[in-house]
Amino acid sequence: MPFGITGFLISLVYRFSYDGSSMKSPLVVSVTGAAGQIGYSLLPRIASGQVFGYDQPISLRLIEIEPGMKALAGVVMELNDCAFPLLESIEATSDLDHGFTGTNWALLVGSVPRKAGMERKDLLGINGKIFIGQGQAIERNAATDVNVLVVGNPCNTNCLIAMKNAPSIPEDRWHAMTRLDENRAKSALAEKAGCHNRDITKLAIWGNHSSTLYPDFENALINGDPVGKYIPDRAWLEGDFIKDVQQRGAAIIAARGLSSAASAAHAAIETVQSLREVTPTDDWHSVAVASNGSYGVEKGLICSFPIRSNGTAASIVEGVDLGEFGKAKFQLSLNELLEEKAMVSDLLPK
Ligand code: NAD
Ligand code: LMR
Repeated sequence: MPFGITGFLISLVYRFSYDGSSMKSPLVVSVTGAAGQIGYSLLPRIASGQVFGYDQPISLRLIEIEPGMKALAGVVMELNDCAFPLLESIEATSDLDHGFTGTNWALLVGSVPRKAGMERKDLLGINGKIFIGQGQAIERNAATDVNVLVVGNPCNTNCLIAMKNAPSIPEDRWHAMTRLDENRAKSALAEKAGCHNRDITKLAIWGNHSSTLYPDFENALINGDPVGKYIPDRAWLEGDFIKDVQQRGAAIIAARGLSSAASAAHAAIETVQSLREVTPTDDWHSVAVASNGSYGVEKGLICSFPIRSNGTAASIVEGVDLGEFGKAKFQLSLNELLEEKAMVSDLLPK
């Protein structure tokens, strides 16, 4: 009776997916800057189930500053109009305590993007202080299992500020986004090698999400082989490849008049997915996390490393040999992170 078996299976899936009594309890996801352009790309994908799973109900807490609340009301209307089966509730607020109440995942996007001609660290004066209040509100209100991803720039140092202002939340819960740089680097290598993005593994970004970041082409693999097998042009790898990845954000601003949004939202989604899923044994991904002292990086500095997850906890991949060239590039980015930390010393509780 194939129909009977199929019908039984469908009824089981329905029962465990849609019957309120057997559904998982909602995951609370807070997103700051929810009326901005990244928010607009990100929110429907979270509400659809794509990020946290198609069996995971979501309660959204959308945070904006007062001037953004009218636009946010429109975003909420659109989310409602999608009639997402997994979207349990939406709270739109400019109150940080309300916005982070019970949050399991806090995606800190809200902040001012740079304009043409600026470096991301030029935003520290205007954006850095935002992350004091957000860190403190997360500390006061979030769920005990909270995880945080900082997207707003300069994301490494903003993450450091938030983390230091939330001392009771373990350092391994704090992340800043360098996945977009990884994806950009993969795309550039694939184009040069004449292969597909998916053929490239172990491409890690080291250091800061800035024009000093180091995309490590020496440990990356194409179809399991060293990149040099497919791209013997070492001068390109050391030169234009690195420069183009470092400058890609600026190139997008020059072209669009606005900073990247769809690709940034996509990278945020992939970051969360990579942290929540078991990393395949032959790969790793880029996330800026609090250093544990590995690779000589000052403990607690938010620095991008190759990261692997076991599905519940992520850790820095140890023992990667950066080589002389890579070490020198990484050091430049580390120096910049230390400079940024010094620039915000008054925002970091002693
Ligand atoms: P946007 O200007 O379109 O939206 C930002 C939103 O944040 C606005 O709606 C604004 O009202 C809101 N906001 C400002 N201050 C806030 C605060 N204190 N609390 C809550 N909300 C606040 O900008 P966007 O394009 O969405 O970019 C957002 C940030 O993400 C920028 O800092 C940008 O540079 C950064 N970014 C980072 C990456 C990355 O790879 N890490 C990639 C792209 C963009
Ligand atoms: C990006 O990399 O696209 C973002 O960080 C935005 C920017 O300022 O470059």
